[in-house]
Amino acid sequence: MTIGTRNLTDSFGRTITYLRLSITDRCNLRCFYCMPQADFNWMEPTEILRFEEIVQLIRVLASLGVKKVRFTGGEPLVRRDVVKLIRDVSSLPGVEETCLTTNGVLLSQMSKELFDAGLRHLNISLDTLRPERFQAITGRDHFRSVWRGIEEGLELGFSPVKINFVMMRGKNDDEIVDFARLTRKYPLDVRFIEFMPIGKHSKWGRNHFLSSDEALKRIAEELGSLSPVESEYGSGPAEMYVLSDGIGRIGFISPLSHRFCSRCNRLRITADGRLRLCLFSDLEVCVRDMFRQGVTDQELAEFFSDIILKKPARYLSHKKDVPTCDRQMSSIGG
Ligand code: GTP
Ligand code: 5AD
Ligand code: SF4
Repeated sequence: MTIGTRNLTDSFGRTITYLRLSITDRCNLRCFYCMPQADFNWMEPTEILRFEEIVQLIRVLASLGVKKVRFTGGEPLVRRDVVKLIRDVSSLPGVEETCLTTNGVLLSQMSKELFDAGLRHLNISLDTLRPERFQAITGRDHFRSVWRGIEEGLELGFSPVKINFVMMRGKNDDEIVDFARLTRKYPLDVRFIEFMPIGKHSKWGRNHFLSSDEALKRIAEELGSLSPVESEYGSGPAEMYVLSDGIGRIGFISPLSHRFCSRCNRLRITADGRLRLCLFSDLEVCVRDMFRQGVTDQELAEFFSDIILKKPARYLSHKKDVPTCDRQMSSIGG
């Protein structure tokens, strides 16, 4: 088989064009819903995929039709060689979009070099606009740095700039309307995400769950009706809307209330180089070991073309109606 002669179509006809790659499990925040509270062990540096391994991985996946690569974490900007990684990956044949999901703490320090390295797509996780609450949720007092990073990112010309807001009843749901209002002032995509029970030690509870429908209703009551806008192809599971006087957009990511598995187009690789075919499936295959044994591009391409047929149609529920997985979010990257 010549590299590039097959593409990644699974047994349900879904073509995979998007890779989410976690490049570190380390983070400079301690969001209570993401990091394990006890039994906290970082991965050993030798466990993490190396620079050259990542480049080989993406080169091969791009030859199989992957066009979009998102770097996630932990916090991807704490990885030393992240700027070079973004530069090198952006220039690989077939890679059309290189994207980053970050907590924004280091953004203001790094935005210029990231922009110069070719990055344009920025997703920033932010669950509150109140500094004290930011400290309560993340364990650190970094709200102002994050906000500065967002404003500088917009000024520099990153586009799109998306804010990810995880909705948690009783924790930050009183700020849903404030976040929606940001789209009147800034050309941001503000996306409301349903809180998912991820990680064995997850602090998830039904009492904290709030659905996208409820958020949409609250926003419409305060700010007027929202008009749906067509999402661009491959843009992820968000359903997008705009306020009548909005310059930015409002999105809802609803993994629990509106399943979107039928149009899933993604693969995930964890920080320690394990392929996850579905966010909610703990079935993992260790790709890192293949690199350490000197796998060729050809062999890797064959491996991916075959393994993709095992991608499940949808996530399987362990608990009634609620998808879960054992791994913590901090090493999957969302
Ligand atoms: P865009 O490419 O900008 O649309 O980004 P994205 O939504 O794919 O990525 P991002 O890292 O910003 O993720 C936003 C939220 O969507 C996170 O909470 C992710 O966990 C969640 N998410 C992304 N992809 C999936 C998916 O395939 N399944 C589920 N259940 N959640 C997902
Ligand atoms: N449910 C929903 N979203 C989550 N994220 C982290 N943990 C959860 C969870 N349990 C979000 C982060 C980040 C993205 C990668 O995933 O806020 O924006
Ligand atoms: Fe860090 Fe993101 Fe997890 Fe928060 S959600 S602890 S910012 S990896």
